[in-house]
Amino acid sequence: MNRVSLTRYLVEKQREKGLITAELRLLLEVCARACKAISTAVGKGALAGVLGEAGSANVQGESQKKLDVIANETLLEANEWGGHLAAMASEEMDHPYPIPNRYPKGGFLLLFDPLDGSSNIDVNVSIGTIFSVLRAPENGEADEAAFLQPGHRQLAAGYAVYGPSTLLVLTVGDGVACFTLDRETGSWLLTRDQIQIPAQTREFAINASNARHWEPPVKRYIDELLAGKEGARAQDFNMRWVASMVADVHRIMTRGGIFMYPRDRREPGKPGRLRLMYEANPMAFLVEQAGGAATNGHQRILDIVPTQLHERVAVMLGSREEVERVSAYHQPG
Ligand code: AHG
Ligand code: MN
Ligand code: MN
Repeated sequence: MNRVSLTRYLVEKQREKGLITAELRLLLEVCARACKAISTAVGKGALAGVLGEAGSANVQGESQKKLDVIANETLLEANEWGGHLAAMASEEMDHPYPIPNRYPKGGFLLLFDPLDGSSNIDVNVSIGTIFSVLRAPENGEADEAAFLQPGHRQLAAGYAVYGPSTLLVLTVGDGVACFTLDRETGSWLLTRDQIQIPAQTREFAINASNARHWEPPVKRYIDELLAGKEGARAQDFNMRWVASMVADVHRIMTRGGIFMYPRDRREPGKPGRLRLMYEANPMAFLVEQAGGAATNGHQRILDIVPTQLHERVAVMLGSREEVERVSAYHQPG
């Protein structure tokens, strides 16, 4: 069967629909190539000595795994020389990474979570990479302030999943497509296009060990799901929690569901666990493009105006009707 390659998909988006420029196409191809390299390292695991701790911590005080560092370096090295970027920002770097002076600069900003699901690396469970593309400001500045744009300004977003197969799920604002890596030829081949998340679901994902810290709207919503047939919802719900956002979101892209990482009362100053700029925003863009919804309970994720590169946010996303219901529980009155 003659499948459409990622290159052809992007060329057609550029040529037929004028949706992306050649420069953005190059950027996305380079990101895909970096994900392929990360996938190879992930696949070798202990044989390549890539498992375990790096012995360092990132800006959020989380200890880094070797693969967090390797994936970050892979993305930086792949993207710094192509001339398409003004700067990059990552979960693993305190400040934006400027393009070295020896290379030309371009019109885009790239943000990434190089390795999502770090706690799953050493136990051989699916992990991934998440990325987001913004336009650099006209004035050519590429400092931290340049990145602080609401998610609805993203030009493209995607994630790779390093699982039983390696996948790349991408949007350029014209629906969501999924590519599978053919490990023999090294090509990304289109295996699903115009992905649609079912509006209804009976599956939810949340780290229930935090239940005692949840705020009342989240507690009410989850209690109703757990009450099943006998409760207010009059139906049973099933729970799944991979603890890699990429894998949990990909399940929702495949068969629907709701994913929640709410804020909780442990640290009132900390509005959630996940990071807005390189986790919540790209996933919210993808989920909305697939007909789903994404909120922090009070506001559409994509409308949040960031104030810090590494800011955290509560996340509730997936099947539209469930996200609307949990949002309604957050409204006063
Ligand atoms: P990261 O590995 O990039 O720090 O992100 C991990 C995130 C996300 O992937 C996942 O949904 C969540 O953390 C898991 O949290 P718990 O450890 O609370 O399950
Ligand atoms: Mn992550
Ligand atoms: Mn990460």
